[in-house]
Amino acid sequence: MEATIVSDTQKHYPVLLNELISIITPQYGGTFIDCTFGNGGYSKKILEYNNTKVIALDRDIETQNKANELFLKFEERFLFKNLKFSQLNNLKIKNEDIKGVVFDLGYSYIQIKDPKKGLSFDSHGELNMKMGLNNFSAEDVINKLSEKELEKIFKFFGEEKESKKIARNIVKERIKQKIDTQLLVKIIEKSKSFKNYKIHSATKVFQALRIFVNKEISELIYGLINALKVLKKDGVIAVVTFHSLEDKIVKYFFKSLSENKSISRYMPSVEQPDTLLKLSQKKPIIASKKELTENLSSRSAKLRYAIKKANFYDFETDIIDKFQNLIEIENIGNQL
Ligand SMILES: C[S@@+](CC[C@H](N)C(=O)[O-])C[C@H]1O[C@@H](n2cnc3c(N)ncnc32)[C@H](O)[C@@H]1O
Repeated sequence: MEATIVSDTQKHYPVLLNELISIITPQYGGTFIDCTFGNGGYSKKILEYNNTKVIALDRDIETQNKANELFLKFEERFLFKNLKFSQLNNLKIKNEDIKGVVFDLGYSYIQIKDPKKGLSFDSHGELNMKMGLNNFSAEDVINKLSEKELEKIFKFFGEEKESKKIARNIVKERIKQKIDTQLLVKIIEKSKSFKNYKIHSATKVFQALRIFVNKEISELIYGLINALKVLKKDGVIAVVTFHSLEDKIVKYFFKSLSENKSISRYMPSVEQPDTLLKLSQKKPIIASKKELTENLSSRSAKLRYAIKKANFYDFETDIIDKFQNLIEIENIGNQL
């Protein structure tokens, strides 16, 4: 008889942890930046190797308690900052020997299950979706933006085919009453003419709202640029993504800087490498069969990494132009 392994759904599992560790090799020591501290799974594992230091960031102040636990154990080898990773260059670490910068995007299990955050369509109560250090909530978006703006957000960040109808019905309903999480789910369900039995009707709109409220696209783009700046030669940037938009951005950033010859005006010509990054493998790393059975959230996880080929701080990239349309949609939120 085959045994069924049921994952402990009350726990947060660090996704692709073994794979990440084998890429960043903390056994040789060095300073690492964990851009998405969360429940501290990656930071703790790195610190278990002697001669390592971790600088951890998280935009959610509620991760501070976990950070305090690591601080008690590892003392001066661990530093935590409640910062967004797009602000990585505010850390004043230009002269630190950074060996690796890691990102594990998305949300921790603890955040998803926190009813106050209202990240999931199972939540009851007010719309929120703020991860931390935000300027507005999902409630502001749903109740204040125009029909056209809502349609754009659902279409580009959720790839929702029925964006137009959903946006129209939201605007109609909000005149009558305030829209909370469960009312939004009902409006979406009523608006959809095509039922997809594989995913919940509200999945795509909720994904779009989370991305918009947390400016996840701009965060990722500026996070990647700043990570590459602070990393030292031979250091690694490793990123775990959970949806196709994020993966597309990471893939483009790594591919363009590892294929295009980079004559940089910031570097003396004798020190110029032919390209700024080295990609050891083109395909992303995905979870093993074992991890898939133990950790449901690893299903959509993709790990990509690249190695920095020279010491430089400033460099040229066209990633902002390439994803300008998405950045502009996120900037609609600046009016809120
Ligand atoms: C999937 S969890 C990370 C889990 C972590 N690797 C672990 O092993 O426990 C993602 C974390 O990143 C944080 N986060 C997401 N976007 C961020 C950003 N732009 N800046 C800083 N932290 C961010 C979230 O608040 C969340 O705590």
